[in-house]
Amino acid sequence: MVKITETILRDAHQSQAATRMRIDEMLPIAEKLDKIGYYSLECWGGATFDACLRFLNEDPWDRLRKLRKAMPNTKLQMLLRGQNILGYKHYSDDVVEEFVKKSIENGIDIIRIFDALNDPRNMETAMKATKKYGGICEAAFSYTTSPVHTNEYFVKLSQKLESMGADIICIKDMAGILLPYNAYELVKAMKAVLKPETMIHLHTHQTAGVGNQTYLKAIEAGVDIIDTALSPLGNGTSQPATEPMVAILQGTEYDTGLDLKKINECTVFFKKVADRLKQDGWLTDKSLATDINALIYQVPGGMLSNLVGQLKKMNALDRYEEVLAEVPNVRKDLGYPPLVTPTSQIVGTQAVFNVVLGERYKMASAETKGVLRGEYGTLPAAPDKDVIKKVLGDNPEMITCRPADLIAPELEKYREECKEFIQQEEDVLSYALFPQVSMNYFKYRQANNIRIDRDFGDTTKGILPV
Ligand code: CO
Repeated sequence: MVKITETILRDAHQSQAATRMRIDEMLPIAEKLDKIGYYSLECWGGATFDACLRFLNEDPWDRLRKLRKAMPNTKLQMLLRGQNILGYKHYSDDVVEEFVKKSIENGIDIIRIFDALNDPRNMETAMKATKKYGGICEAAFSYTTSPVHTNEYFVKLSQKLESMGADIICIKDMAGILLPYNAYELVKAMKAVLKPETMIHLHTHQTAGVGNQTYLKAIEAGVDIIDTALSPLGNGTSQPATEPMVAILQGTEYDTGLDLKKINECTVFFKKVADRLKQDGWLTDKSLATDINALIYQVPGGMLSNLVGQLKKMNALDRYEEVLAEVPNVRKDLGYPPLVTPTSQIVGTQAVFNVVLGERYKMASAETKGVLRGEYGTLPAAPDKDVIKKVLGDNPEMITCRPADLIAPELEKYREECKEFIQQEEDVLSYALFPQVSMNYFKYRQANNIRIDRDFGDTTKGILPV
C-alpha cells in the first residue's frame, strides 16, 4: 500500500499561485480533507509563513492552530529549511530549537527538514529538536544531478540522515528532474541499506511532465509515501495530481485505499478556490505548461521566471539564452550546489552578472562570496580555484566549521526588539524570521484591534503515530 501526502494547502498553491491561498479557503473543506485518510497533509512552512504575514494579514501560528483544530485525525506536515528555518539566512540554535518546539506545540506532526547544500550539519539542530519535542523527523535531501550527485552519493547521505535520527527520508526533487528509471534505481539502492522501519518519501513536481511516471517507477521500487496535489492546483509546476495517481494504483498491490468519490468532493471545492486565484491573477495557464527547460538546464521552474524578471529590470531580456547557458557553468564553479532556495537565487544572479557585465566574476554578489567562503556550509564539490582567487583574493579566510557555531544565541535580542507588540510567545519567532514584515503585521493587528485566539482544540490526542 502506498501512502499519500496531500500538498494542496502548501506546495500546490506556493508553486502555482504565489502562495496566496487564505485560511478561509481551507477551513470549509477541512473536515472532508480530514476524513480522506491521507498519510499526511502538508499545510504549513515553506513560503506560507512569509506569505501569511506579508500578503494576507494572517498570523501563521493562528492558521496552524485553526487547521489543527479542524483536522484532528490527519498528521499535519511542514517544510523547514534547516538552520534557515523559513527565512533566508542561518539562525542561531536557540531560535531554531524554539521554532521547532512551537511548531509542534501548535499542531505540526511531521517536520520535513532540508538544507540547500545537503550539509547535514545545517539540519542537525532542527532534527534533534524535532525528536526532543515529540515530532516525526523527516530528513530530506535536495535532489540534483552533477558529476558528484550520483545515486551512491545520495544513498550515503540517506544513511547519514538515518543515523542522525530521521524517521523518514525524503527525496526532494524540487525541480522535477528525477526521471522514472533513475527513481527506480535510487529507491532500490536506498531500500537496500536503510533500516526496514525507515520510510522513503518522494517529492517531485510535474514541471517537465514526468512526475506520474517517476512516482510509478519509485512505487515499483518500494517507495512508501508520495506527494500529490488535488487536480485544481495539481500538475504543471505543482505536484502530480492526486486523483489520477489514486486511480492508477487502484486494485493493485499498491492501492492507496483512498476513495475517489470522497476525494472528488474536495476537488469540487478547490475548483472554486482555483477560480478565485485565477480571477485575482495569481494562477495563470503558464504554471500548467510543460517546461522542458527544467530538464535541459536542470533549473527549477521558479528560477526561470526569476531570471526573466531580473533581465527585464536590466533591460537585457535578449541575453536570456546566454544566461541559461551560464547557469550550469556558475554551478560548476561554486562546487555544484543543488538549485533550491537560497542557492538557486545566488547562482541565477551570478549568472546574470557574468553575462550582462561582459566578464565572468567582474562583479560577485555578497552571497556568491559567502558560498565560496563556506558561509552556507560545505559545498558538494570543491569550488574552482581560479574563481575563488578572483572573487575572494589571495589567502581568503574560509569557514570550515558548522556555520551556526559562529552565531551567538539571539532569541532574547529579538524578544527585546518587538516586546511591546507581543501577544503570544510565537510572535518573537515571526519577528526573528521577518522583522520588518512582522512589525507591519503587528501594527496592522494593533490598529484593527485583533486579539490572538489561542484555542488549540483537543490537544490531549498528542502526536499521531508514524
Ligand atoms: Co516542492
